[in-house]
Amino acid sequence: MARLLIVHHTTSPSTQAMLEAVLEGARTDEIDGVEVVTRAALAATAVDVLAADAVILGTPANIGYMSGALKHFFDQVYYPCLSETAGLPYTLYVHGNNDTTGAVRSVETIAKGMSWHRHRPPVTVVGELSRADREACWELGAVTALAAAERAASRTA
Ligand SMILES: Cc1cc2nc3c(=O)[nH]c(=O)nc-3n(C[C@H](O)[C@H](O)[C@H](O)COP(=O)(O)O)c2cc1C
Repeated sequence: MARLLIVHHTTSPSTQAMLEAVLEGARTDEIDGVEVVTRAALAATAVDVLAADAVILGTPANIGYMSGALKHFFDQVYYPCLSETAGLPYTLYVHGNNDTTGAVRSVETIAKGMSWHRHRPPVTVVGELSRADREACWELGAVTALAAAERAASRTA
C-alpha cells in the first residue's frame, strides 16, 4: 500500500475548503492502493515523513512566508529526514488574502534543500475560492496520490 501524507495548517473556512477539495481528489475511487494520512502541521513528525511515498503541504500565507506551523514542521523533520527522503514527490497549496509569492518561495526553498521533487506547480488562491480553485485542489490531491502510488511501485520493483 502506498502512503500519501498531507501536512496542513488549517486556520479558516478558506483553508479548510482547500484541504477538503485536496482530500477528495486524493481519495478518489479512480486511484487504488493509496492510504491517505492527514496531519496538522503542528502534529506531523519525522516518522510520518519517513513512511510517506508523497507529501502534500498546505498553508496560509503569513507575512510573506509559510505559516509558523508549517515552518515548525520543517524544523522538526529537516535533519531526521534529510538523507532518507531525497526525491520525495511533493505538492503545495497556499491560501492568502493578497499575495502568496513569498509563502510559495519559502516552502519551495526548504523542500529543495531537502532534495524533494516538486511534482506539480503549487495551487495558490487569493481570497474566496472559485469553483476552478476547488477543481485545481481536487486535481492536486489526485495527481499527488498517483505520484505516491508510482513511487511505492518503483520501491518494490
Ligand atoms: C499575521 C497574518 C499575516 C498574513 N500575511 C499574509 C500575507 O503575507 N499574504 C497574504 O496573501 N495573506 C496574508 N494573510 C492572510 C492569510 O493568509 C489568510 O487569513 C488565510 O489564508 C486564511 O484566509 P481567510 O482569512 O480568507 O480565511 C495574513 C494573515 C495573518 C493573520
